[in-house]
Amino acid sequence: MPLSAMQAIQFLGSQFTWLPRATSAPILTGKTVILTGANSGIGWEAGHQLAAMKPKRLILACRDMKTGAAALESVLSKYPGTNATVWNLDLASFENIKEFAARANKELDVVDVAVLNAAMNPGFADAPMKTTVDGHEVTQQVNILSTILLSLLLQPLLAKSVDPTLVITSSEVHMFCGHQLIANAVHTHSSILAAYDDKSRFVCGDRYFESKLLLQLVIRQLIGDLPDIKIVAVNPGMCRSNLGREMTSIGMRIGIIINNYTLSRSAWNGAVNVTKAIEATESQEYWSDCAPAASSSVFLGSATGHAASKQYYHEVMAVLDKVSPGCTAPLGVASRHAQPSL
Ligand SMILES: NC(=O)c1ccc[n+]([C@@H]2O[C@H](COP(=O)([O-])OP(=O)(O)OC[C@H]3O[C@@H](n4cnc5c(N)ncnc54)[C@H](OP(=O)(O)O)[C@@H]3O)[C@@H](O)[C@H]2O)c1
Repeated sequence: MPLSAMQAIQFLGSQFTWLPRATSAPILTGKTVILTGANSGIGWEAGHQLAAMKPKRLILACRDMKTGAAALESVLSKYPGTNATVWNLDLASFENIKEFAARANKELDVVDVAVLNAAMNPGFADAPMKTTVDGHEVTQQVNILSTILLSLLLQPLLAKSVDPTLVITSSEVHMFCGHQLIANAVHTHSSILAAYDDKSRFVCGDRYFESKLLLQLVIRQLIGDLPDIKIVAVNPGMCRSNLGREMTSIGMRIGIIINNYTLSRSAWNGAVNVTKAIEATESQEYWSDCAPAASSSVFLGSATGHAASKQYYHEVMAVLDKVSPGCTAPLGVASRHAQPSL
């Protein structure tokens, strides 16, 4: 979907906004922090910024233990003495997430801050759909289902914190993408989640963008359902990172290089947006340029957008309650979600 003039101005203005310096005060003293996607791009830099805030314990959750170890080594070389470790986490497997959460519940007394930053982009070409071991389209599972499952499974540990904070990395692309699949499902009373798992409706180039819109739809409801946790959905801004790794055609590689030298900000600055969100005073549906922000998505504000938000949230929670029975109990609406109407 093309950007409106207003959105283009907002996007460009944001990209060139001067961001504050990363916090260097020890605001995480005594706190236990989990960061996902810590081995690359924005997460790599966020790991260093979090270490500078002197947490009691920092867990770098990574799918690839080798690059995770490299991130840990880099953090420890710059911030010696940080109590940091790498834990394995693969968001493409519900079983792996349950194992990660079980380990957290066994080894940690509390989680004060969870920064769920990991996500994937399946590419902007017409690549075929990839399905996870759990049977979901991989982008939907990694970027939404698994991110929310991990949030729910960490909730008991977050609930033990005096200032529980859940930061989820979203993106401004949610404002620029199409929403036909979502709106069509709402209007035909069919499942949004199933539409995104349907091979015949898969358009690879749209998927990353739409996953961030779906994420925003869920976060809006989650904030209402977990009032005791500060939840902030962050737009780091367009950054130089490895997110374009699936974009292998020469045209796309050239496009990425041009972007990197013109519009994109550094992954460090993207990470500043993410780590500053820890300092938000209350939950924020959208956080951009180190401050609460209003999304200019017309769809999010529309009646269909509101209906889609409730419907998709309900569908997501129904799936997750089956994956890990009782995980939606903290929302106080487990029975409602356990009985999907679709
Ligand atoms: N870069 C941008 O322009 C931009 C703009 C807006 C929002 N964002 C968001 O910022 C966040 C970080 O992205 P990035 O730009 O730093 O990209 P990146 O360099 O590709 O980092 C993505 C991270 O997510 C991890 N990840 C992907 N799939 C995973 C899985 N199945 N299980 C566990 N971890 C997985 C990656 O691990 P592996 O290295 O093992 O794959 C990597 O650590 C994402 O949420 C992204 O959507 C980025």
